[in-house]
Amino acid sequence: GRRRGNAVQRADLVIVANRLPVDRVVEADGSTTWRRSPGGLVSALSPVMNTQEGAWIGWPGDVGEDLAPFENEGMTLVPVSMSAEEYEEYYEGFSNATLWPLYHDLVAKPEFHREWWDSYVAVNRRFAEAAAAVAAEHAMVWIQDYQLQLVPALLRDLRPDLRIGFFLHIPFPPAELFSQLPWRRELLQGLLGADLVGFQLPGAAQNFIRLVRERVGHKTHRDSVYLPDGRMVTAKAFPISIDTAGFTELARSEPVQARAKQIREDLGNPRRIFLGIDRLDYTKGIYARLRAFSELIHDGHFTVEDATFVQVASPSRERVDQYRILRDDIDRLVGHINGDLGRLGRPAISYLNASFPREEMAALYVASDIMVVTPFRDGMNLVAKEYVACRYDDDGALVLSEFAGAAAELKQAYLVNPYDINGMKAQMLEAYRAEEKELAKRMRAMRKTIVENDVANWANNFLADLAAARPGHEKQVKP
Ligand code: G6P
Repeated sequence: GRRRGNAVQRADLVIVANRLPVDRVVEADGSTTWRRSPGGLVSALSPVMNTQEGAWIGWPGDVGEDLAPFENEGMTLVPVSMSAEEYEEYYEGFSNATLWPLYHDLVAKPEFHREWWDSYVAVNRRFAEAAAAVAAEHAMVWIQDYQLQLVPALLRDLRPDLRIGFFLHIPFPPAELFSQLPWRRELLQGLLGADLVGFQLPGAAQNFIRLVRERVGHKTHRDSVYLPDGRMVTAKAFPISIDTAGFTELARSEPVQARAKQIREDLGNPRRIFLGIDRLDYTKGIYARLRAFSELIHDGHFTVEDATFVQVASPSRERVDQYRILRDDIDRLVGHINGDLGRLGRPAISYLNASFPREEMAALYVASDIMVVTPFRDGMNLVAKEYVACRYDDDGALVLSEFAGAAAELKQAYLVNPYDINGMKAQMLEAYRAEEKELAKRMRAMRKTIVENDVANWANNFLADLAAARPGHEKQVKP
């Protein structure tokens, strides 16, 4: 887009997310540049952002510095700063030690601290003020995820002219769990500042509507909330997806094919390679899944020559207690399993506590026969969809938790209850033994699903519904 002088031009489409869509790169001469981060959200939104005049408001990933807005690949990026204390209280605390476990079915026990809440309010206000400053008149503002649930209402107070959308990437819990929150009313009212509130699944939207009716007392009908001031809020499911064509193309590419072959060789060309790729998070069910696999070897269904498990766990939120505990637990479990079952040069599990670029992920997907995705609770799980996108020959098996949002669409996966170790073992074994024809039938159906609903489709659906919200507030056409 065009800019006048140094002033940031006001934007017609504003994305507000906890993180900016770029990673800082320090060059050899010490200067800083920014590289587009691998996430699917930014690749889905950048086409619209470049045609519309787009801005993205987010935290640059470091504490304590104030950065001026800057341009990156046709988008205005507006950094929001955070102090070390806010990082602890808003990000590690309220976002990731209160909301994260509570919204994921109490997989870990959430902590409630009043000073964390105060910090969450303060940081949400800073994001809302930044959005209010950069949005053009009657612009669309799309706020992302659980870290920023108060922004819709704070922003509406500052800028009643805007069309405001919110999308929650993680699950929205049943009323019985949500109601534990001392600040449940404030959070619901924060979300009600939006015209359109999007969730991964219809059940989450229903949980929200019920809570608004019971806890805030507004009138609701189906997917609509009627506010006393005449405003209407819609709550609806928009299941997120991936850049399906991009992943398929990457998987077919020569370097990824060669790398995949190398990976199989490095692992000793076993008959079957099992794969897990997750953020190192207690919601992902990594521990139970590795135990299930090790028991299959222990029970004699196959040997470490027949099959091996590659588990990639990318470091995440490393200073939060529950994440430290999990890391130690998994370190110990992998050591134990490999000590018991491994042979020279043949560990049962290859465990990588690291994150990898997209190309290496694609090579791992191509190299593996059985992808194991077994979260206890997950908003969607894009790894499951990425695996399917990479299996362009309709081979390979997906073992998938029924508690991942993706299970609603990928019905032909080997579905499992991640709390049921014997059930998981049975499905992993069935996938291990499955005939090519059976695998192809399942994979073909799953591929069709993600070709039809890719991330561009997701973004377009949401933005079209947001554009249609609040008739009578149509954006003025510039002469
Ligand atoms: C989940 C959340 C995102 C978050 C990501 C990485 O996918 O829904 O909002 O950005 O995890 O977590 P982090 O805490 O590193 O941003």
